[in-house]
Amino acid sequence: MTKRINVLYISLTGNTKHFMGRLADYFATQAIVLKAINVKENPEPTTLTDPFVAFLPTFLKGGNGVDNGYTEILTNKLGTYLDFAQNYQHCYGIIGSGNRNFNKQFALTAKQYAERFGFPYLTDFELRGTKSDVPRIANIILKQCTAFTAQEA
Ligand SMILES: Cc1cc2nc3c(=O)[nH]c(=O)nc-3n(C[C@H](O)[C@H](O)[C@H](O)COP(=O)(O)O)c2cc1C
Repeated sequence: MTKRINVLYISLTGNTKHFMGRLADYFATQAIVLKAINVKENPEPTTLTDPFVAFLPTFLKGGNGVDNGYTEILTNKLGTYLDFAQNYQHCYGIIGSGNRNFNKQFALTAKQYAERFGFPYLTDFELRGTKSDVPRIANIILKQCTAFTAQEA
């Protein structure tokens, strides 16, 4: 049977979507199918029953990168999707992204989601990610997916 990796993500300016395309190509070389839902294009939540990993870029209101501006804007629909029908229970981890110029607020929303929903914060990458981010993150996902599936069985 073909192995499948399910992803729930949001991409507002296209960086995460671009990364998803490269991740799909990489998985395809290992006969793994990536099935990704972009909440920007599919904002109406559906019930998810298969294990999935979430990707979340960071968009915060104001903030100076040090000690203020922790409020999520624009990406809230991902949180709504995770909440819907307790979908978050099937999420085995979240991967954050952002821009390191934001210092302490780099990839912050994904860290806040990990705390809010109780799934692990797996890793992060900047903007569209580097060439080495793709296999690095693919391996983290595969490992975490296997562990989660074994625990569920
Ligand atoms: C209005 C705005 C606010 C942002 N705030 C943050 C931030 O607080 N922390 C961070 O790490 N990146 C921040 N970013 C950078 C985005 O997270 C980054 O560009 C990301 O790759 C966007 O992903 P997307 O193109 O898939 O939507 C911000 C970008 C914009 C346009």
